[in-house]
Amino acid sequence: MEAYLREIESLFTPSKEKLKELTGIFQKELEIGLVRRDGMLKALPTFVYNLPSGMESGKFLTVDLGGTNLRIGLVELFGSGRFTIKKDSVVIPETLKSGSGYGIFNFIAENIEKFLEHPEIETELPLKLGFTFSFPVQQESLAHGRILGWSKEIECNDVIGMDAVALLQVALHSRGLEIAVEALINDTVGTLLAQVYRDKKTKMSVILGTGSNAAYVEQCSHLTKEENESNKVVTVINIEWGSFGDGANFLPTTRFDALLDEESKNPGIQRFEKMISGMYLGEIFRLILLEAVENGLIRSTGWTISKPYGIKTKQMSNFHESYILGAVEECKSIANDKFGLFILDDDLKYVSRLCELISLRSCYLCAVGITAVHRHLLETSLISAKEMFSVALDGALYQRYPNYSKILQDLVCMMDGKEEEVCRIILVMAEDLSSIGAAAAIAAQK
Ligand code: BGC
Repeated sequence: MEAYLREIESLFTPSKEKLKELTGIFQKELEIGLVRRDGMLKALPTFVYNLPSGMESGKFLTVDLGGTNLRIGLVELFGSGRFTIKKDSVVIPETLKSGSGYGIFNFIAENIEKFLEHPEIETELPLKLGFTFSFPVQQESLAHGRILGWSKEIECNDVIGMDAVALLQVALHSRGLEIAVEALINDTVGTLLAQVYRDKKTKMSVILGTGSNAAYVEQCSHLTKEENESNKVVTVINIEWGSFGDGANFLPTTRFDALLDEESKNPGIQRFEKMISGMYLGEIFRLILLEAVENGLIRSTGWTISKPYGIKTKQMSNFHESYILGAVEECKSIANDKFGLFILDDDLKYVSRLCELISLRSCYLCAVGITAVHRHLLETSLISAKEMFSVALDGALYQRYPNYSKILQDLVCMMDGKEEEVCRIILVMAEDLSSIGAAAAIAAQK
C-alpha cells in the first residue's frame, strides 16, 4: 500500500511550475473569454451593472436551483447590509435530473406554492422573485437567459436553448401564482452580490459545492464581446470556470480523472470542475480505492466500491475528519458501512492520506483560479497592488471539508508570492447567501 500511495501522491500533487503555468493559462483564457464568445472560459455577462450599495430594502421571494437542493426563501432587506430570511430546502429528486426540463420547472413552482402556504410565511402576492440558477446561461438581460447546457450530472436536454425565466414564469402562472421573476443570476453572482451588500470591498466569489465556479467584478470596457449598457462602468462576470481545460491537455489529469470523465454524463466537458467539486471528489476516491482492491491492496466487503458514485464526498470527508480526530473505530465503521471496505488499522493512514491528496489537489486548482483573477485585475488596474482583495466563498466543500478553507487561504497567499509580506487575498466565508444576492440584484436596479 505504501508504494501505491507514493505513486498516487506524485500523480495528485502538481508541481510549483505546473501551478504557475496553469495560472498563466487561466488568466489568458479569461481575457480571451471577455472578447470572444467561443472561448474556453465562457466569461458570461450577467447584466448586473448596479452593485448593491448596502442600502437596498424590500421584501423578495427567492429560489435557488443548485445541483443537489432547491432552496426557497422570503428575504427582507433593511439596508446597512442587514437582512432576514425565512427559508426552506428540498432535495431535487434523482428522477427529475434526467427527465424533461419542464419537470424541474414545475417542481420549482410546486414547491414555491407549498412554501407560501406555510403558516410562518406571512406575505401577500404579488411578489418579485430573484431566481438563482446554478448552471450556464447566456443572458440577454437581467431577467432573461438561455440555458446553455446542464452540469453536475443533470441531463434535461429538451430545454437547452430556452429561457430559464420564461420556463419558470409559465410554471408559476399555470398555478395562478402572481409572482414576477425579475432577476436571473448564477449562484456565484448571488454570493458576490450578497457579500458586496455587506462589504463593498468584495471583488470575487467562488462556489465549492456540488459544482464549482467563480464570478468577479469587471470593468465594462473589458467585456468587448457584448454591447454594454451605456454609461455603466462595472459589471459582474460569471466565469463558468468548470470548463477550464476542456478540449486541451494542460490540466494535470490522471487515469482516474480520465475514467471519471469517460463515464460521466458530459464526457470532455467541465474537466476542471470534475477535479475540484463535491460532485466528483468522492468518485475519484472510489476509483482509486477500487484499483487498490483490484490490486489486492485492500479487502472489499461489499458492492459499494464497484458502484459508480457509491461513495459521496460527504462520506469521504467524514472519514478524513474522523482520522484527523483520532477516532479509529469511527473510521473503520465508515469504511465498512459506507465504502464496503475492510481496512486494517495500519492501512488507515494510507486511506486518509488519499483523501488528503484528492482534497489538496482541489484546493490547488481552486487557488489557481483565484490567483489568476487577482492578477488579471491587478494588471488591468481594476485594483491596486496595495488593496485588499476580498473573495466570498460558499459551498459544502469549502464550509465542511476538514481544513479545506484554511489550506486554500494559505495556498492563495503562497501562490500570490506574498508569503513574507502581508497577504492581500482574503477569503471570507459567505454561507448560503446567494438568495440575499438575488434579492439585492432586484433591489439594486431601482
Ligand atoms: C455550474 C455553475 C455553478 C457551479 C456551482 C457548475 O456546475 O456550471 O453555473 O455556478 O456549478 O454551483
